[in-house]
Amino acid sequence: MDSSREKVKHASKTSKQMLIGLHIGNGYGSQQGAWRMPGVDPKSYTSYDARVKQAQAAERGKFHFIFLPDGPGAALTDIENEAPSFNLDVMLTLAAVARETKRIGLVATGSTTFNEPFNLARQFKALDVMSHGRAGWNAVTSSGDAVAANYGRSIPSSEERYGRAHEVIQLIQALWGSWGKDAWVHDQESGQFAKRDQILPINVEGKHVGSRGPLYIPPSEQGQPLIFHAGGSPNAHELAGRFANAVIGAAFTIEDARAQRNAFREAAKRYGRDPDEIKYIPGLMTTIAKDRRTALDRRIKLTERLFPQRVVYLQQMLGIRLDLNSLNEPLSKEQLDAARPSPFDPRSAHALKIAKEGWSLRDIIAHGVIDYHPVIVGPGIEAADHMQAWFEAGAADGFWISADVDEDGIDAFVDEVVPILQERCLFHQDYQGKTLREHLGAPDQYGTDPRVSTQGKGTMEE
Ligand SMILES: Cc1cc2nc3c(=O)[nH]c(=O)nc-3n(C[C@H](O)[C@H](O)[C@H](O)COP(=O)(O)O)c2cc1C
Repeated sequence: MDSSREKVKHASKTSKQMLIGLHIGNGYGSQQGAWRMPGVDPKSYTSYDARVKQAQAAERGKFHFIFLPDGPGAALTDIENEAPSFNLDVMLTLAAVARETKRIGLVATGSTTFNEPFNLARQFKALDVMSHGRAGWNAVTSSGDAVAANYGRSIPSSEERYGRAHEVIQLIQALWGSWGKDAWVHDQESGQFAKRDQILPINVEGKHVGSRGPLYIPPSEQGQPLIFHAGGSPNAHELAGRFANAVIGAAFTIEDARAQRNAFREAAKRYGRDPDEIKYIPGLMTTIAKDRRTALDRRIKLTERLFPQRVVYLQQMLGIRLDLNSLNEPLSKEQLDAARPSPFDPRSAHALKIAKEGWSLRDIIAHGVIDYHPVIVGPGIEAADHMQAWFEAGAADGFWISADVDEDGIDAFVDEVVPILQERCLFHQDYQGKTLREHLGAPDQYGTDPRVSTQGKGTMEE
């Protein structure tokens, strides 16, 4: 057995266990060159069967949910060379996945800025019914003028977006609860389909949105979908603290993740909620291989096209000049002595640490020091150690995993990381319940939460 594995303290069987979700973007993987990798079907961007297969791989690994980000839509930043980063259509994809999976939660991003709330309410509740209570809605306000331009608009101010978001979530939850829990009788003998007096209009009119309702869809096995949120600003803390069951986060250090987690928990408390009702789930990117060298070579093959621009960026992170012609050389003693991690990029200290280990410039970049989340490039135990350290430090309730290449990277995580986490009693052996609400241990809720919403009084608060 690996010696570092022997040293690890095993959590007891009764300890709290971590949540794991899988990020599925365009279906090739989270690294830009994924679509060009050998063994990857270059046309799988449009294959719903491929998305189903990936979700099934995650379900084999007992992941609690899959998470599909969305713009809505995706910006075509480098379409000459790279695939758009998101799914063709997140709701249609999840509908296909729902039919071919049994337990895994299905979470999609739905913009509160660029959707009518009634449309979102019925799509997510229909998915919830179709999947027997496995749907989650990642309610985000959206960012970026490229997204807004598709709606003939520019991005509204943060105040405007979040003001609308507070109303949209309350309105949607009110619509979800507008078909009473026991309203659906479907009694062929008496001929009664449903109890009209339990299916009621919501009649809300806010500053930004309104609806008469009711929605025409009965409850699912979990009642209604869960709310996720993704964002890190104070406005995001407030929105999530008020409504979210889980936060899809982004943090590069344990300290930052712990601070973010605490900010969301504090916000939840301000709304009279138990802070354990909001799960903070930061991202982790993985290139899992039998050893560090094999994993680094895989990353080089995947992303080497981008290395010239990353060398330029690494110079700024370390505050020194780097030579693109010396990719095979480690940094010199003079360079390392002169290097100062940039205070403007939280990844800089880690980049310098890797550089000081003596890796070549090419390998430093292949470690993923310039990526959207912490990156594990190595054997499965390194991912397990990272996850254990963050989880036990109170920095995370779980992780959302972005495999480098979905074709084999999801299976690599399932086969090489999940068993170690299970052996350490940090991750469940199997699903305990059937619904996403059960997977997350989220409290029952049908309609709005009276602790945080004014909607029940016929009004809405931003
Ligand atoms: C981890 C993470 C995931 C996100 N996923 C999405 C997404 O799928 N779609 C989207 O439009 N925005 C996404 N966002 C962006 C947020 O919705 C938000 O616009 C951004 O964080 C800017 O925050 P602010 O408007 O509070 O300043 C994500 C943000 C984070 C941190």
